[in-house]
Parts: sequence; C-alpha cells; structure tokens
Amino acid sequence: MDQTAVVVQMRQLIRLLAQHNHAYYVMDQPTIEDSEYDQLFHQLKALEQQYPDLTQSDTPTNTVGAKALSKFENITHTVPMLSLGNVFNQEDLMAFARRIEERLPNQKIQYDVELKFDGLAISLWYENGVLVRGVTRGDGETGEVITQNVKTIRNLPKTLNSLKGEVPQLLEVRGEVLMPKAGFEKLNAENLEKGEKTFANPRNAAAGSLRQLDPSIAASRPLAFYAYGIAQCEPHHGQLTMSASLEWLTQFGFAVGERHFVCDSIEDVQTVYEKINAERPNLSVEIDGMVIKVDDLKQQKQLGFLSREPRWATAYKFPAIAALTTVDQIDWQVGRTGTITPVARLNPVAVGGVTVSNVTLHNIGEIHRLDVRIGDTVSVYRSGDVIPKVEKVWPEFRPVDAIEVKLPESCPVCASPVVMPEGEALARCSGGLYCAAQRIEAIRHFVSRKAMDIEGLGDRWAESLLHLDLLKDVADIYHLHEHREKLLTIEKMGEKSVQNLIDSIENSKKTTFASFIFALGIRGVGETTARMLANTFQNLDALKAADLEALKKTPDVGSITAEWIIDFFQAEHNVEVVDRLIAAGIHWDNPVAPTRQPLNGESWVITGTLSQMGRDQATQMLQALGARVSGSISSKTKCLVAGEKAGSKLDKAEKLGVNILNETDFLALMAEYGQHLDA
Ligand code: IVH
Repeated sequence: MDQTAVVVQMRQLIRLLAQHNHAYYVMDQPTIEDSEYDQLFHQLKALEQQYPDLTQSDTPTNTVGAKALSKFENITHTVPMLSLGNVFNQEDLMAFARRIEERLPNQKIQYDVELKFDGLAISLWYENGVLVRGVTRGDGETGEVITQNVKTIRNLPKTLNSLKGEVPQLLEVRGEVLMPKAGFEKLNAENLEKGEKTFANPRNAAAGSLRQLDPSIAASRPLAFYAYGIAQCEPHHGQLTMSASLEWLTQFGFAVGERHFVCDSIEDVQTVYEKINAERPNLSVEIDGMVIKVDDLKQQKQLGFLSREPRWATAYKFPAIAALTTVDQIDWQVGRTGTITPVARLNPVAVGGVTVSNVTLHNIGEIHRLDVRIGDTVSVYRSGDVIPKVEKVWPEFRPVDAIEVKLPESCPVCASPVVMPEGEALARCSGGLYCAAQRIEAIRHFVSRKAMDIEGLGDRWAESLLHLDLLKDVADIYHLHEHREKLLTIEKMGEKSVQNLIDSIENSKKTTFASFIFALGIRGVGETTARMLANTFQNLDALKAADLEALKKTPDVGSITAEWIIDFFQAEHNVEVVDRLIAAGIHWDNPVAPTRQPLNGESWVITGTLSQMGRDQATQMLQALGARVSGSISSKTKCLVAGEKAGSKLDKAEKLGVNILNETDFLALMAEYGQHLDA
C-alpha cells in the first residue's frame, strides 16, 4: 500500500471509531456490536504497527472513551478508571502470560479468572460504611455523578455492615451495572405490552436506565451491580490476592460474578475460558468474555501499567458473534413454493465460532432497505446463535465498481417470468407445476388428502420417484403404472406396495371438481376458495376462460387471488399439465348447482365458544349459503354469531349495531335454509 492510501485508511478508521465511541459512551446508543468495534480498532492498531511512522496523533488506540455529557455533575476519578488490553485466542493468551513471566522471573504466578460483564462500569464511594457517591466511568478520567440512580440498584449495599466488624473509613469499589437477562426480557415484554420502546440488548437497557435524571425510572428497572475490584481502601483490607479481596467484599453484601476461578497455570485459564464460553447461555447475565488477572496483589504492583492498560490483566473476548466481510455475489434461490429469495454469497468469515459464507437477504425489499450491493462490506451476526444475518452495510468501504442488485425477470430454474404483485414482499416464479424447484412441493400438495388423496405417495415415495426421474410434473403420476420395474428398484418398495400405490392412483381419478381445483396448487386458492370456484364455474373450461371480473364475483375471491388464478391458466405449461391430467382420466360429477345462495356476498363473523359444533362447521354452513366468514367486525358485517365467552368482538358488534345471533338462533336460521348439523 502506498503511504497516502495508508493514511486515508487510518483517518477513516479514526473517524469511525470516534463516532462509535461517542454513540457508545456519551449517547448510550451504540451503533455497532462491540466485536465490530474491536475489529475496527484492531485494524487500526495493525496498520499502526506496520507503519509506525504514519501513526496519527489523534489515534484512539491509547485513549479511553469520550467526554461525559454535562447533564449530571462531572467529577474527576481519584484513581483513573482504565481499560483492559484484549486477547482473542490461545496464542495471544500465551503471549500475555509470557510477558508476565519475563517480568517476574522464577515467581509462581496464579491467575484470577472472572466473568467479563457486558454492562456499564461504575465506581462507588463508601465513607465510614455509607454509600456517598456513585460515578460512571465516563472517559476514564472524569465521570458523571449518578448517586441517586445507583442507590436504586437493589443488590447494591447502601451501607456496609459486616459480622466481622471491620468497616473501612474509605472504600472505593469498582464494578459493573447490568440488567440480568431475565429482568431484561420481562422489561421488554412489559414495554411491548404498553406500546413503549423496547431495548436492543441488556447493555442498552442498563445504560438507558442509569442515564435517567429522574431516579424513579432507574428504580423501576431490574438493575444489578457486580463488583470486580477495589480502587481504594483505608485502612487497607489486608488481603493479599485479587480473589481474596473479592471474597472479602462479599461479606458486605456485594455481588461478584456467578463464576470465579483461580488457576495455577495459563493452560488452566484456557480450559476455564472454553468451559465458560460453553456455559454462557446458562448464565444469568450477559458476558462478552473473561477477565484474566494476576492474582497476587504484590505482583500486580510490580507489573504496573503500560500506556493506559494494566500489564497484570487482560480481557479474553469470546469469538465474535458479529464480523465484517464482503459480498461476493447475490444469487436468487427458488423455494419449494415458488418464492424467489436473494442469498448473499460472502467471503467466508468466522462468526461466533462458525464459518459463514451464505446469508439470506429475505426479499428485494430487504436488499433495498440495507442498500446492499455486490462488493460491499457488511457486518454479519448470528441471531439466536444460529441463523446468520446481515446487520448493516458499510458504505464507507464501498468499492467504486460495486454492483446494484435487481430482481431477476425470469426464474433462474425454469425461466418462467418472475412476478411480484403490488403490496407483496415476495417475488415468485410463475412456473407453477412446471418449475423443477417447485416440483416436490407441488406433488406433495397434489396428492394430499384434501386434494387428490393418493395415500402414501407424498410422505413415502415422492422423493425417490423424483430421483428416478419418474415425476417431472404431477401428470406423470398417472403414468407411473407404466414403470412397474423401475418402481420395484426403490428401497422398501415391494410388489405389494407397488400395487397399493397404483391402486390408490387409479382410485383418485374419480374426484370432485373442488378437490381438483384445490390440487392444482394455485396460489391463494385454498380448500374453501376451490369449493367456491367449483360452485361458481361448474366446469373446467368455464374456469379456464374466466376473466378478472367473473372471478372477483366468486365469494371468497379478492382481486389478488383472481390475478393469481389468471396467471396460472395463462402459463402454457400449466394448461398442458391440466390437459394431460384430464386426458389421463381424472373426472368428477358435475357439482349440483346450489339451489339457493340466500346469504350471497354477506360478511359474517363467528366469535366465542360454540357448544354444538366447531367453528369450522359453522363456517362451512355459512359458506354453503354464499356468505363470507371474516375474522373481524366492521360496519360491513352482516351478522355476528356469538358463542359462550364472546369478548371484544361482541362489544364492537353492539357498538356498531351489527346483528347478533346466539348459537340456538343461528342453528334455527341455518335449518330454515336447509343447513343441518351432521349427525
Ligand atoms: S477489571 C484496570 N474485571 O471491562 C481495569 N473489568 O475492557 C480493570 N469489565 O472498563 C478492569 N468485567 O468495565 C474488570 N471482571 C471484570 C470486568 C471488567 C467487565 C469491564 C470494565 C472495564 C472494561 C475493560
């Protein structure tokens, strides 16, 4: 890299880090994951190591945080609140230990290993056993006085009492304020219910609570304090080690981490680290790593500090759950139901210990929202610890030749046109029965019980039949009997199974018009709609020829479904498959035209518990009479059928003056129209 390029990159990183620092420390609104911040930071540090002469004077690599807000009173820490160096892997950890051993030759070194709490560092002052001040870390030199808020933290001792009777005159305790996971989830659930803002993570929730000027807000939040060090103690507490001094604090009621270890060797530290990483989901609080400290306090003193970090301690972060990488390509995948989904192919990157090279972008809307282009740098994180997601795009790193992504016009599998009706988020292949990607699902649906009802084919044999290339589309089902020999090669398929399969295929040929329409798997056409279509159009030719207006007159068919039906019959290969099915012998008795549809076009709603029938049955009776059954009451509702324990819908119907029928009256009305409960 030439010098100018290095400086440009350094400036860019410094600017980004400063922005995120401000957002994190001053505004309490982190804009990126800590691990991403660390990555940027290390990128800068690495550049500085490689080109020390170009190091910028305002680099954040040896400063901490940003200036505190002036809302609260500011105070200078008597003992600065410093930060910790980081190690990221076993090699770094060994190097950390080696540096210590070199400075303390021939000394036995033990390590105190603590949880690294992912919250907010604070300092607490106790004078003669009374909490007099709580201060945020701020920029490490100066912090904000948040005593009122701190006093509301429930697990934090406001006065120091000890059975041992040794309360120091001055005690300054350092530690972290957190919102334990359970409290965080409860708070978010409550806020959601009240329609209030929810927090992205426990750290934000804790920070947001401590920064409130009104202490009653902090008091209402489930905060907790965990101590991890003593900055000052007069008279001296007399403990010789880090671990003993933390133990000493517990006598006053301070909480320390729920896991805590003393290790005899750095190898043991590595083992503990791995153990805790695995236990991390079971802990009550969020942690982002472990803190390793030389246990002996005298040794700590000997080691001292380098720049603004102690030589005697380091943070050992857990593998990132978010990482930066680049988008190499965006492919479109056709799902089994014809949805076309964009998938970003990434330059492989480790995220939380797993290599991620593909990540779904869900839909074209998401691509627009993120504004992701081929060549972009993106942050990838794993949510719920499994599914990787693109969190954001870094336009700062966008190459000039980044390529914008457009929705493909034709299906990458079958080349049929891709369609995306207005108001829909997902694009789809219009290939229907023809598209290879949709074949298995189309077949499973076609043979299902409420469709052509071919037993066994869907669950047991469909995949093998596809592998043998015996089913290119659903019409091939009716030619399977021509391939007995091939069928017998399928594992577990004996003479008897072959015969059963062929018989049930043969039996399925006699069906109803409604089941056949349903079996075609036309988008938007479920069982009920299929029944309505069958009643309205009576025969296949009429249905095939129906225009938008005619379709929309069918109860249960709105304009979107009507479009889907038209699209289906406009695709040549669908018509071809349908023709082959009929040619294979599928037939039905013409549906008897319903004598009367007295409730034609009316909207009905059913609510509460019905005692003599299920809601399904009531719905079917209404639909048979031409009514639509809807889930919500509006002024257009013709009638509400109210069973036992009817709630808000009944209230609303009363308010709007909608007709209301109880179950008995409903059944009487149905009987009048010739609809009876099946025995
Ligand atoms: S000891 C000289 N112990 O990590 C600094 N820090 O990255 C001594 N932290 O600002 C810090 N858990 O807020 C220590 N068990 C622990 C910790 C811990 C979390 C935080 C602390 C510090 C930051 C440094």
